[in-house]
Amino acid sequence: MVFELVKFLFLMIPPYVANSTPVLFSKIKALNFLDFPIDRGKTWKGRRILGDGKTVKGFVMGVFWGSVAGTALGTIKLGFALSLGTMIGDLIGSFLKRRLEVERGKSNWLLDQETFIVFALTLASILEPISWEYWLAFLAITPPIHRLANIIANRLKLKSVPF
Ligand code: CTP
Ligand code: MG
Repeated sequence: MVFELVKFLFLMIPPYVANSTPVLFSKIKALNFLDFPIDRGKTWKGRRILGDGKTVKGFVMGVFWGSVAGTALGTIKLGFALSLGTMIGDLIGSFLKRRLEVERGKSNWLLDQETFIVFALTLASILEPISWEYWLAFLAITPPIHRLANIIANRLKLKSVPF
């Protein structure tokens, strides 16, 4: 039981770190040579491929700090897989939002809150099996935690919107 909880936390921390660092670094003038949109402003069928909210700097910072968190927990490879999966999932979420005509910064709760954790767990599964109970638990707890974290980021004026 305790072991299960520890494993759960080890799987949980890197994705949440990876998902929350881009917005922190967007306010800091470090690594600004990487601060440009991944889609470089390109459009597809009249809409941005990803939008201005997805920068190379944010992607790199998410993968890096999520992996640092994993390394601190002693699971460097798993931490990297979870963080890379998180940031890829975040891009896929934005890609789908643009296709659904949701503008950058507007919300789509399913794509904002669940895509990143789905891809994080998918990539982590390459390294070690993740049981369906873990999957269910992650899908259940991620939306409320994501929402709460965004409300806090909004209060701290890190984000202009609470989602
Ligand atoms: N961010 C970034 N690069 C990323 C992901 C996030 O620079 N790869 C930064 C951006 O400043 C972004 C902020 O973190 O505005 C919040 O991330 P998110 O809510 O995912 O982006 P949105 O601006 O809401 O864009 P979208 O509608 O595409 O989700
Ligand atoms: Mg958003």
